[in-house]
Amino acid sequence: MNHSAFSLLRCPICRAAGTLSADGRVFRCLGEKPHSYDVARSGYLNLSRSQKSGGDSSDAVRARSAFLEKDYYRPLAVRVREILDEIKAETVIDAGCGEGYYTNRMAGEGRTVIGFDLSKSAIDHASKQAKKAESTAKIPKSTVLFAVSSLFELPVADACADVVTNLFAPCAEAEFSRVLKSGGELIVVGAGENHLMGLKRVLYETPYPNPGRADLPKNLTLVSRERLTFEARICGQSDIRALFSMTPYYYRTPREGHEKLAALDALVTELDFDIYRYRKETVE
Ligand SMILES: C[S@@+](CC[C@H](N)C(=O)[O-])C[C@H]1O[C@@H](n2cnc3c(N)ncnc32)[C@H](O)[C@@H]1O
Repeated sequence: MNHSAFSLLRCPICRAAGTLSADGRVFRCLGEKPHSYDVARSGYLNLSRSQKSGGDSSDAVRARSAFLEKDYYRPLAVRVREILDEIKAETVIDAGCGEGYYTNRMAGEGRTVIGFDLSKSAIDHASKQAKKAESTAKIPKSTVLFAVSSLFELPVADACADVVTNLFAPCAEAEFSRVLKSGGELIVVGAGENHLMGLKRVLYETPYPNPGRADLPKNLTLVSRERLTFEARICGQSDIRALFSMTPYYYRTPREGHEKLAALDALVTELDFDIYRYRKETVE
């Protein structure tokens, strides 16, 4: 169990700090009327204020984890690592962490990381992967924690993180700013204009470039914007299908598009990412 990560948590109901029970099974807040949260078997906490399940479905989670675990997006993970190293980030909040592909890598680099996502299946998968990695010493013991929560109401203390990462998930600028330390950074990643163009060329007669993110921060200071572009060869139907089904095109493409893609043995496509860095200015 990651006690330092637990110390950053705040009760989603009364905002009090909390502690983990001696047996590691329950997180209890220290508010006047204590609230308790069971630690799931796979090690995550459900700190969502909503009873309804939200975020990505278990099918989407399965497809994305099958694809990401083949490391086609590894260059992006490497670039994120370089940026975190440059910032000397020790404490990271991964907001909208999905299946924890990037989160668990950050923990493997020796950082204290908390991944939040609305999707229970994604968080469960992320937490299981973390346990596996801990058991083979790929992740130092007790450096990563996953919790189900909306990223618009993060159950953590004010000014507790060196960095918030926000990769392909909704951007909640005011909330990210609250949890960042003064001088801390927000890293936002979105699809660049040519992202998956090779896939779109198979599916559509006239594939359009991606429009770029419409929810970028307005008040934090932009430090840099860079583009990471490379070509990938997606090998075999199972990887092509996993990629296709983690995109919105899967649901809106007519049958002919599905059939054309199903006939391929390999797909060559551009992967194109926009990486933005924002800083929370130091308050004197
Ligand atoms: C496209 S996935 C990206 C996941 C991960 N960051 C990655 O790049 O692999 C977007 C994630 O955002 C999550 N999400 C969407 N809205 C959210 C919200 N309001 N709060 C927390 N997570 C949210 C979804 O459940 C999904 O896991």
